[in-house]
Amino acid sequence: MKTETPVVKYLADYKAPTHKIETVDLEFHLDDTQTQVFSKMKITPVNGNTLELNGEELKLKSVKVNGEEFSNYKEENEILTLTGLPSEAFTLEIHNEINPKANTALDGLYKSGGMFCSQNEPEGFRRITYFIDRPDNLSVFTTKIIADKKDYPFLLSNGNLIESGDLEDGKHFAVWNDPFAKPAYLYALVAGDLAVIEDTFKTKSGRDVKLQVFVDKGNEEKSHHAMESLKKSMKWDEKRFRLEYDLDIYMIVAVDSFNMGAMENKGLNIFNSAYVLASKETAEDRNFFGIESVVGHEYFHNWTGNRVTCRDWFQLTLKEGLTVFRDQEFSADLNSRSVCRINDVRNLKAAQFPEDAGPQSHPIQPKSYIEMNNFYTMTIYEKGAEVIRMYHTLLGEEGFQRGMDKYFELYDGQAVTTADFTHAMSVANDNYDFSQFRRWYDQAGTPVLDITTKYDEAAKEFTLTVNQSTPATPGQPTKEPFHMPFLLGLLDSAGNDMTLALKNRDDQNDLDRGLLHIKADTETFVFANVNERPVASLNRNFSAPVVLRSDLTDEDFVFLMANDNDDFNRYEAGQALALKNIHAMLKDENHQVDELFIKAWGSILNDNNIDEEFKAVCLSLPSMIDVAATIDIPNYRAIHEAKDKLFKLLANTYKLELASIYNDLSTERPFKVDAKAMGERKLRGFVLACLSTVEEHKELARECFKYATNMTDMMNSLSVMVNENLPGCQESLKEFYDKFKDQTLVMQKWLSVQASSCDDTTFDKVQELMKDEVFDMNVPNLVSALIGSFARNKVQFNHESGRGMKFIAEMIRKVDAINPQSASRLAGAFNDYRKMPADLKEIAKAELTAIVESDKTSKNVYEKLSKTLNS
Ligand code: TRP
Ligand code: ZN
Repeated sequence: MKTETPVVKYLADYKAPTHKIETVDLEFHLDDTQTQVFSKMKITPVNGNTLELNGEELKLKSVKVNGEEFSNYKEENEILTLTGLPSEAFTLEIHNEINPKANTALDGLYKSGGMFCSQNEPEGFRRITYFIDRPDNLSVFTTKIIADKKDYPFLLSNGNLIESGDLEDGKHFAVWNDPFAKPAYLYALVAGDLAVIEDTFKTKSGRDVKLQVFVDKGNEEKSHHAMESLKKSMKWDEKRFRLEYDLDIYMIVAVDSFNMGAMENKGLNIFNSAYVLASKETAEDRNFFGIESVVGHEYFHNWTGNRVTCRDWFQLTLKEGLTVFRDQEFSADLNSRSVCRINDVRNLKAAQFPEDAGPQSHPIQPKSYIEMNNFYTMTIYEKGAEVIRMYHTLLGEEGFQRGMDKYFELYDGQAVTTADFTHAMSVANDNYDFSQFRRWYDQAGTPVLDITTKYDEAAKEFTLTVNQSTPATPGQPTKEPFHMPFLLGLLDSAGNDMTLALKNRDDQNDLDRGLLHIKADTETFVFANVNERPVASLNRNFSAPVVLRSDLTDEDFVFLMANDNDDFNRYEAGQALALKNIHAMLKDENHQVDELFIKAWGSILNDNNIDEEFKAVCLSLPSMIDVAATIDIPNYRAIHEAKDKLFKLLANTYKLELASIYNDLSTERPFKVDAKAMGERKLRGFVLACLSTVEEHKELARECFKYATNMTDMMNSLSVMVNENLPGCQESLKEFYDKFKDQTLVMQKWLSVQASSCDDTTFDKVQELMKDEVFDMNVPNLVSALIGSFARNKVQFNHESGRGMKFIAEMIRKVDAINPQSASRLAGAFNDYRKMPADLKEIAKAELTAIVESDKTSKNVYEKLSKTLNS
């Protein structure tokens, strides 16, 4: 039995720190198992003579105050409490020891490959030394690193290198100083034998910034895309947000063992190597795109996160929602804006909506947590970005940018709250009233809009009635209505937008942009001078992140697919029609797929005026999760089969057109990483998947694989072969393995594609792959690629026998002993608990109860699974 229930932290309990650590001088004597850490802090008391410092898994060696040995302290529950301290500014010196090699949690200072590296967000610094480890303590850090020169030629930390040199016994040292005061979570240290590529960037004010990307030796050629992305990010932030970089050097280090994507440490980003390394032979287009967006994301944090940081971790979305919005806009400005928006919303619906509808549901500003690491969620990041996007929609680009200027004017160098952000946006825009809008920060759950329309021929009036409701979420049984921006268009029969004139209300000022304000539970908008029955294009560009239900007819959707002037809604209309058909197929096995839909799908396929990438996303069917969202107890196998059947029907109906598109796209062309070329490869992959379901084209995927000259074509064909069990599948898997077995990032794809197959043989396959030498339970990327992919494989995780979920429960226990963050992510597989069929639910309940009651279970997994069981 769990002996003590973990402590819950509450936003409402916030208290300012009792002391401020003004400066800290650190000295590291690096060693695999016995690294010595010497810390000298200049501290100013703010409130009282008692100081509490955080410290976890540290060996305390000595404490001095103002140069004298000090013994007035006790260490308890990971807090070092010092009492009877001076009331004036004093120095505190602490010596402690840590064991980086034993640190498989990858939190604090650890070893990855042969290199030392650190991860301190949110609370990792306390695993390096005793500190006020909270984001509202901003200190100036100076670091001296001492290590063996041969094994660790590069010694890196934040800021500027101010001194370096050789020491006795083959050791050397480096001293770094970061002039910008920062919280400990932005601190970083790296030591290793690395390769580096270099470049420079001239800022708009004319300063030269040195840019370095550090990778494992031999990977230099694969790091140029990351470097190019960095330069693009710096340029874009100057242009769109007028923000210039502030240090003389910017470093990125790639590591293989990392818990997340990347980390924005001041001047020294540390990246999961998956977001740095890319070549056409080893990376898919989505990896190239992902690198550009993550490099951008971490760079943009320099202003939104580092220069202005968070007061406490409940404010995480202050920096993350805003920075995701910024990286989304960066990608949209550099690639196809509509496709980016569609993909962002697809991602939101596939991952954030289910989170918000399940046991982990929380507002973008949570009110309590047990383990902060559990709150780096789709809600904080992606829904947080949607909330920022709503400010942007309400205020327009100019008004939003005025708000950003005000934000930096008021808060640069400070640790602030989301309310401060809202304040800046408001005062920069004539004291715009965001009081109701603030509910987005406090209420969880995805709002639902029920919309009915009515056209009055005689009066030439069109009426739109919008009813909003938000389902109950854990701890929040009832909800108040949200203020949401709702972009609308009314199309005439020629497909043109009509001029909008509201009859019944005076809030017309945003109508020229098609913007309606939805505030009350029920809103009625009556439009005048509507000369024919219009087709309404609702919630354009997904301006409000909601579930929409409307009385639009199939004919309306077909019309919108072909004519809407909003690309997002052209896509969305197709999804709505496809969803209707899949639901009908699930209800009735003999359901005849709507001719109207089949025709509309074909018109998009044959439309030569839309670009390849947009075509590919418009033709894609809704995800299994989209389909399951509205079903109480989803049967994933049935959903998979229905989708499959529809896909095959479409493919067979249009096999001639598909074959001709495939041929056109298969002519030799030079490999480029731009929107056009990536779009062509995407459409070719999609068309290949369609054709592979057609009898006479079963050999095509193998053919494509054999002649592929880039990883995108390779993975597109391999995944089709694996999913459809096509001829050539086994040979292809073997050839792929032989070619890439020494490249862990590529092996992650190989593991993932096999673990994702819905086929019943997948279970045994995964057991076998776990024994392969390319797999390593200590590396989060590999755990996610193999075990995580299986956990996300809805059909196999929910296998009728219960074997899928029993296996994942066992893996959660195993991984938890190594890396709680990695285990906690796996635990997300059980978020569907409430929606499981009774017999599976029984099995899940027994497994989860055993984990929650075990003494060995981490706080991370405990928090997630106890919430799951209570749902
Ligand atoms: N702040 C990081 C980002 O936005 C994410 C992060 C949080 C992280 N905790 C982490 C990254 C732990 C790596 C490990 O990109
Ligand atoms: Zn971030």
